[in-house]
Amino acid sequence: MVIYPGNESLGRRIAETLGADVASLTMRQFPDEESYVQLSAACAGRDVIVVATLDRPNPKVLPLLFLVDLAHELRASRVILVAPYLAYMRQDTRFKSGEAVTSRSFAKLLSGGIDALVTVDPHLHRYQALAGLYSVPAHVIHAAPLVAEWIQAEVERPLLVGPDSESGQWVADVARRASAPYVVLEKTRRGDRDVEVSVPDVERWRDHRPVLVDDIISTARTMIETVRRLKSADLPAPICVGVHAVFAGDAYRDLRAAGAERVVTTNTIAHESNQIDVSGAITAAVGRT
Ligand code: R5P
Repeated sequence: MVIYPGNESLGRRIAETLGADVASLTMRQFPDEESYVQLSAACAGRDVIVVATLDRPNPKVLPLLFLVDLAHELRASRVILVAPYLAYMRQDTRFKSGEAVTSRSFAKLLSGGIDALVTVDPHLHRYQALAGLYSVPAHVIHAAPLVAEWIQAEVERPLLVGPDSESGQWVADVARRASAPYVVLEKTRRGDRDVEVSVPDVERWRDHRPVLVDDIISTARTMIETVRRLKSADLPAPICVGVHAVFAGDAYRDLRAAGAERVVTTNTIAHESNQIDVSGAITAAVGRT
């Protein structure tokens, strides 16, 4: 197994459970900012699993492509990329003429270098599945059972809240597993950081703890607006649960400051809010490849 820098905690857990050898990887930049990559491992005839989550993808991707190409050159039988967070999934259509549909270009680029992909809850909104987008076998892990388990163990009288229709199906699934009621809000996004949400009549849930559940927390505007709306409807301070802790800029601090009671994420991206461990589910999926 090759653990890409920044993935040490999750990577080591996966390697231990799988009983995989961890290769020694050296990566650095030359003074001119080109990349140096060296792998000390016997790759010939073996499956090489590369653990590299892909938040803030741009500086990571070129060295990653060099790394997977190197593993092939060292005669790995297959190179399996474990990318717990898969980037560029939200740009899934041409919203304005002339725009790049980067989800497609990115999928082409990654598919060209790997033999299989394992990821956790990719943002599948306009795409039904990764198959068709990625040309290599792609294995998707769903965090819903782990999120539901965490809610059941940690929250009394939860009311699950999906911030937009995209989250509807997912929130319904978590709610069913956690035996909790749920509501789904309507969201209008006017810009990267300009989001409005409308809250339906939530009067009857005043004695419940709202638990916002979303796949990605990026600018956190979606969650911040929802927290504000629920608080002004006199509901208890909400708990925010996100699968992927992207947290652009000051998003985490801003969300806490907006009045979230707790902010909890899975460890697909290492962050201080990580409370839900997906390493077991990833190990099982890697085993199935
Ligand atoms: C979008 O549909 C996603 O499910 C999330 O709601 C969105 O990515 C959150 O983004 P932000 O934190 O920037 O509001």
